Amino acid sequence: MCGIIGYTGGAQAAPKLLNGLKRLDYRGYDSSGIAVLERGKITVVKAEGKVAVLDKKTDFGNALRGTVGIGHTRWATHGAPSDANAHPHASNDGRFAIVHNGIIENFFELKQTLAASGCVFSSETDSEVIVHLIETLYNGDMLATLVKAERELKGSYAVGILCADAPNTIYAIRKDNPLMIGINGKNGENFIASDVAAALEYTHEFVLLGDGEIAAVSPAEVAFYDADGKPITKEPYTVKWNIEQAEKGGYPHFMIKEIHEQPRALTDTVRQRIKRDGSIDLDGIELTPEYIASLDGIDIIGCGSAYHAGIVGKYFIEKHARIRVNCELASEYIYSDPITGANRLTLIISQSGETADTLAALRLAKKRGSRTIAVVNVVESAIAREADGVLYTHAGPEIAVATTKGYTTQIAALYLIGLKAARIKGAITNERYSALIKELLSVSDKVSAMLAPAEIEQMLALAKKYSKNHCAFFIGRGADYAASLEGALKLKEISYIHAEAYAAGELKHGTISLIEEGTVTLALVTQSALYPKMESNIKSVSSRKGTVIAVASPENAKISSASDKVIILPECDDDIAPILAAVALQLFAYYVADCRKCDIDKPRNLAKSVTVE
Ligand code: G6P
Repeated sequence: MCGIIGYTGGAQAAPKLLNGLKRLDYRGYDSSGIAVLERGKITVVKAEGKVAVLDKKTDFGNALRGTVGIGHTRWATHGAPSDANAHPHASNDGRFAIVHNGIIENFFELKQTLAASGCVFSSETDSEVIVHLIETLYNGDMLATLVKAERELKGSYAVGILCADAPNTIYAIRKDNPLMIGINGKNGENFIASDVAAALEYTHEFVLLGDGEIAAVSPAEVAFYDADGKPITKEPYTVKWNIEQAEKGGYPHFMIKEIHEQPRALTDTVRQRIKRDGSIDLDGIELTPEYIASLDGIDIIGCGSAYHAGIVGKYFIEKHARIRVNCELASEYIYSDPITGANRLTLIISQSGETADTLAALRLAKKRGSRTIAVVNVVESAIAREADGVLYTHAGPEIAVATTKGYTTQIAALYLIGLKAARIKGAITNERYSALIKELLSVSDKVSAMLAPAEIEQMLALAKKYSKNHCAFFIGRGADYAASLEGALKLKEISYIHAEAYAAGELKHGTISLIEEGTVTLALVTQSALYPKMESNIKSVSSRKGTVIAVASPENAKISSASDKVIILPECDDDIAPILAAVALQLFAYYVADCRKCDIDKPRNLAKSVTVE
C-alpha cells in the first residue's frame, strides 16, 4: 500500500510533504514524489528509491516554492518502481497532478478510451488514468468534474488532486481506501493523509472522508460534498495516538494490524482478476488449452508459510483441474536433482520475492526448461523479475515477521490459477466454477466478520486459557491438514510454544503416544466429506484425556459434542475454508503470544526475508 500526504497553509509545502512521507516509510516503499503549486504552475519531482533520494533531488524541499502540494510514497502494484511510475502523475497540459492509493480496476478500458482521445501516457500505472480522466472531464468546475470522474472509476482509491486553476486548494476523493483531512485551524493549515501518522506531528484533529465523498481543502476552510456534489457537514475527531501507535493504525503490533488488513488484501488480490463474465485474467499470463494439455504435472515451490500456501494450492488444483501437483520446500528442491522440463509448470511462491532458496529453485527449474510463474507480493523483487510470468498478490507491505495477509493472498492467487486451469481443461462444471468464483469474491466479507470485536473477545478468552501450555498439536485431513501446518507454524514462530501439525490419520502411527491429560490439540473440521474420520480422530485424543479445540465450519459444528471448545467459522464452501481457518489460527497464535508477552513482530532468531541459503 502506498502513502499520501498533502499540505496547504502559510508555510512552504515541500519540506512538510517530505517530512510526512518519512512518517509513512514504515509502510515500505520503492519510490516517492511531490507536486507543488505556485502562481498557477504545478512542479512535480519524483525519485525511485527512498525519500532520502527525493530529499537530495529537491534540496530537502527548498528547491520547490509553493504553499500547497501533494506527496506520495509508492509500493508498486502496476508497473515497476521507477521515476516514471512514481506519483504524482501530471496531466498532459500540466494543469493537474494526482496521487493515488488503491487499484483502478477498469484502468485498461479507461486507458484505451483516453488514449484514443489523444491523452499521452508516460507510466505503466493504473493511477495515471485518473489524471487524464480529470483533464478530459474538466470544464472549469472542479467539483462537477470530480463528481463525473468518480462515476467512471471502478476499484478502490484515495486520491489527492492539485488543479492549477485553484490556488491553495487540494481536492480529495476516496472509495474503499482510507483518506483523512487533518485540520489545524490554529495555524491556518490543513492536510490530507492516507494515515494519520503522516500529519500527526502537526495536528490531532482529523475528518475521515467517506466512500464517494469529495473534499476541497484550503488553509482557511475544508468543504465536503457527497457523491452528487451536494455540500455535507462532517465533524472532526481527535486522535490520541502518538506517532508509533499511529504507524500501527492504533494496534499494538504490526501483526494484528496486518491480520485486520486481510479483507482489503484479499479483495485487491481477487476482485480485479475476475471479469464481469466470470472469466479469470491472470494479468496476461497465458495458459492455452494446448499448454495445459501438454503438462504432466505442476511443481509448487516455496519456504515457510509460502510452502504451506502451496500445499493448500495443491489440494485445490488437483481436485478441480485434475493435474498432479508436487509441492516442495525450496531448500529440498534445489538439492534433489529435480526431474523437470517443458512438460512441468513451476509455481514459485514468495511474499518477499527475495528468499534465497526459493530464488535458487526458480533458477534451477528455468535452467531445466520448465516454465516458471511466480506468486509474489513485492513488485520487481528478484523472483518477480526472473520468473517467466508473475502474478502479484496485492497484500501490501508486510512488516511483522510472521506472515498473515501475505499467506492468505497466496492461497487466493493459487485458487485463481487452479480455477483458470480447471476451466481451460474442462475439468470443472460451469455450476461448480461459478459457485467457487462467488465464494472467492465473498471471502473478504467473511474474514471481516471473523474480525468483529465479539469474535476477537472470544479468541482472546480462549488464548488466555491455553497460553501457559507447553505444546500443542494441530490435526486435520485434506485441505485441513494443509491449514494445520500453517497454524502450527504461526503458533511456534511467535509464542515459542512447541507446536506440531499432523495429518489426523497419522496420529495413531506415533503421535498419539504424546497425548496425555491437558495436552492441547487444535482439530480442523471443515472438510465435510472427512467428518466421520475426523470425529474418530478427535475421540481418540479426548479418550486419552487430551483437550480438543475444534475449528469447524457451521456444517460440521456438531463436532462440539466431541470437543472441549469449538470455534465456528463463517459459512463457506469447504474448498475456501483454509483461508478462514488460517485467520482463526493467526488470531489464536497472536493472542497466545500476546498473553505470553512475546516480541510478536520480531520473534527471536527469525527474519522476515531470508536471503541466505
Ligand atoms: C521467512 C519468514 C516466513 C516466510 C518465509 C518465506 O522464514 O519468516 O514468514 O514464510 O521466510 O518467505 P517468502 O518471502 O519467500 O514468502
